[in-house]
Amino acid sequence: MNILLLGGGGREHALAWKLAQSPLCTALFAAPGNPGIAEHAKLVDLDLEDHAAVAAFCAGQGIGLVVVGPEAPLVDGIADSLRAAGVPVFGPGKAAAQLEGSKGFTKDLRAEAGIPTARYVRCMSADEALAELVGFSLPVVIKADGLAAGKGVIIAETADDARAAIEDMFGGSFGASGAQVVLEEFMEGEEASFFALTDGTAIVAFGSAQDHKRVGDGDTGPNTGGMGAYSPASVLTPALEADVMTRIIEPTVATLAARGTPYSGVLFAGLMLTAQGPKLIEYNCRFGDPECEVLMMRLESDLVELLLAVAQGRLGAVPAPVLGQDTALTIVLAAKGYPGTPEKGAPIALPSAPEGARIFHAGTAHKDGALVANGGRVLAVTALGASVTQARDAAYALADKVDFPGGFCRRDIGWREVAREAALSAE
Ligand code: AMP
Ligand code: GLY
Repeated sequence: MNILLLGGGGREHALAWKLAQSPLCTALFAAPGNPGIAEHAKLVDLDLEDHAAVAAFCAGQGIGLVVVGPEAPLVDGIADSLRAAGVPVFGPGKAAAQLEGSKGFTKDLRAEAGIPTARYVRCMSADEALAELVGFSLPVVIKADGLAAGKGVIIAETADDARAAIEDMFGGSFGASGAQVVLEEFMEGEEASFFALTDGTAIVAFGSAQDHKRVGDGDTGPNTGGMGAYSPASVLTPALEADVMTRIIEPTVATLAARGTPYSGVLFAGLMLTAQGPKLIEYNCRFGDPECEVLMMRLESDLVELLLAVAQGRLGAVPAPVLGQDTALTIVLAAKGYPGTPEKGAPIALPSAPEGARIFHAGTAHKDGALVANGGRVLAVTALGASVTQARDAAYALADKVDFPGGFCRRDIGWREVAREAALSAE
């Protein structure tokens, strides 16, 4: 089968690597792709906002499956356009992608489905938000409603900071995303991510991970798209995972189906493990980046078989995904300046990766025949190990061989679990 992958980051490089391994894959195309993806796919120049052009490409190349990596084309309805043209698509339609596209939409769905989450209010103006603020204790969480690449969330420790954030968001600092703002109760606990595949009816677990959102060591500095991750996140025990399935994922899928907008694709739940049990922070309508890199390192099943079954509404008829027992850990090498304005064009020289490790390209380009940085997050250096500590050591050993003077990384990816492993082995 011919497959088209949309996107060009580290997530898509990991997806391309697994898709190309499948015996079901005849030819893999990627748009726009990147130099890493080009090792597994033929790159094509398509305007992802021009749905008719993407559909015409699919017809011309006999594409039997489109895999949509990033959220923006999903929120923009590309899955609906392609399905209308008869092309099987992995990824939700526009209505269901609102789970990520609008925080307020998801909040209201949680209320309807009875999903555990933080108390919140949606506000349409700065005056309304300032009036509602008095009803929240500190710290308080303030979120721009729409897509903001992980950066539209402020945790305000003081009332002054909260007022400033509200005025900033309604003042347009996040563009149209800030036209609506959600005020939310601060939840205390450890964060973990849980992934499930669903075709709108059947649901299967697809593993857990823990991301590191802040740019600096010790979880300091501004939020980013993610500076590193490991999988599985053993803090999400089998009992907690079962709880997340029954109290969060299943009611979400059932409620969207009952509304006539069934969800098809991967559901990525950002969770806070509170003293009262797991609560939903947010949903994403796609694989996480860099969480996808660690999930794909562990995946033993045929990715094409799974994603095609989701796209065709027959997930219940294929074997459930198998993820290996080993831990995978990935370290993001970012360009200096990220998450502000990253420096572009710095040269990179890559070492070869040993068995059990891989370097995924996130934001790279070829310039005059050389590999250069071309984005905020540039590489995701990923390794497997029998424990988080071993995976971390293998990933840093490889990252330290990457010659990228224009880049930086966090030195403490996996620190929570590494500390737990050290405490266990000291017992
Ligand atoms: P979001 O974009 O909704 O995932 O939020 C980004 C990050 O902000 C999350 O990963 C959390 O670290 C933090 N956050 C969001 N909402 C809350 C909350 N209600 N309580 C505590 N932390 C939160
Ligand atoms: N790493 C977080 C995300 O993909 O949203």
